[in-house]
Amino acid sequence: MPENKVVLHYGGNSYEYPVVEGTIGDRGIDISQLRSQTGLITLDYGFKNTGSTSSGITFLDGDKGELLYRGYPIEELAEKSNFTEVMYLLLNGELPGKKDYDTFEANIKVHNYVAEEMKKIIDAFPRYAHPMGVLSTLTSALTAFNPKAVDAQSVEDLNHAAELMIAKFAHLCAWTYRKTQGLPLNHGDNSLNYVENFYKMVFRLPNEEFELDTYIVDALDKLLILHADHEQNCSTSTVRLVGSAHTGLFASISSGVSALWGPLHGGANQAVIEMLERIKSDGGDVAKYIAKAKDKNDNFRLMGFGHRVYKNFDPRAKIIKKASDVILSKMGIKDKALDIALQLEKIALEDDYFIERKLYPNVDFYSGIIYKALGFPTEMFTVMFALGRLPGWIAQWKEMRLNGDPIGRPRQVYTGAKKRNFVPIDQR
Ligand code: SDX
Repeated sequence: MPENKVVLHYGGNSYEYPVVEGTIGDRGIDISQLRSQTGLITLDYGFKNTGSTSSGITFLDGDKGELLYRGYPIEELAEKSNFTEVMYLLLNGELPGKKDYDTFEANIKVHNYVAEEMKKIIDAFPRYAHPMGVLSTLTSALTAFNPKAVDAQSVEDLNHAAELMIAKFAHLCAWTYRKTQGLPLNHGDNSLNYVENFYKMVFRLPNEEFELDTYIVDALDKLLILHADHEQNCSTSTVRLVGSAHTGLFASISSGVSALWGPLHGGANQAVIEMLERIKSDGGDVAKYIAKAKDKNDNFRLMGFGHRVYKNFDPRAKIIKKASDVILSKMGIKDKALDIALQLEKIALEDDYFIERKLYPNVDFYSGIIYKALGFPTEMFTVMFALGRLPGWIAQWKEMRLNGDPIGRPRQVYTGAKKRNFVPIDQR
């Protein structure tokens, strides 16, 4: 039986701290009394060893390459569920019965439009604006049109804000694409399910009848499920931290969009395709880029490789890799970028540098290949990641608020100047 406490010896004294046991996975030392008893804080750049909270939503086993949403393996959900059902599961903790599912879907459809004034905001952007910057702005602007959702306290208010956000966010994501293409902005169609509706808002042309390609919608649905939540990653931790100040849901989600944009996080799916294109235009010399990735003096990184938690294959990458084969062959697409990705993966997984550091393909390594095949431009890939991650951000924000987590305010080790007096400029 593992011990339920740790003992710290410092300054001639001994201090005991309880070990907190979860359902599965990491056990944590509760150091809430550490500073008051010892005067010490902990220091952990990037929180590589530090838990910010306890959560019952998603679990990763980085060594096994396992991902569970509310206990259900991602492989089963990707194969047997759909994105609307997974959104309900993440937000409420259980898979819905038919009645709850239909009510949830209907409640989202009630909000399946966006205030016309929002179009004036998106009009102000240049067409070349990066869609993630547009999305973050529009998401925060939603607050102005839905002031009641700002101060959601009760479970009912939180659920209402969540359903409203889920409906509106799909519009904002679709509109960022339409903006880059100079196309008119569509509102939702309640005769369709959530993913069909999004797909139609993105690709319906004003002068043509719109046809839904079911296998494209199915591929999109699966991709959104795979991106739906991932414990306390960078953007989710951002949403929680901003929300811990009792900032409204929309502004908190907007901060998550900005965090996801980074190329080390969700922006990696765009960076992967740009990397593959760069290798392709450089004669496809994969070995050269593997060597660059290993060279400490070269800031080139193998984008889509490595993960803070997974020290084995990212289970999502496995599913996406298989799906990309199916989609490309169904669409009759021969994508040189996929060939290069497969070569990179093969060489990297046999190379000691990557093996020693347990660097495997992550969720972003293959996703861009599918998004590209489905007709999305590269700069839209991270917007697709954001749409998938939305239910996870909301579920984590809701859990943080209902659990009454305190405002997040980390400490620091100060390394600056000691106290000194001001010197007038004529004496400097
Ligand atoms: C996502 O956290 C999540 O859950 C995120 C995510 C989610 O669903 O929310 O899974 C989504 O963000 C996936 C990750 C997408 N990012 C990338 O693909 C960018 C490329 N990967 C790396 O930048 C890196 O692997 C990170 C950021 C993903 C993880 O970085 P860590 O955990 O801080 O590890 P590190 O940077 O300290 O690297 C450890 C070692 C270093 O070498 P040494 O100094 O020990 O010699 O591994 C090397 C690194 O140089 N390394 C890489 C590498 N990733 C790590 N070397 C070459 N290429 C890489 N991609």
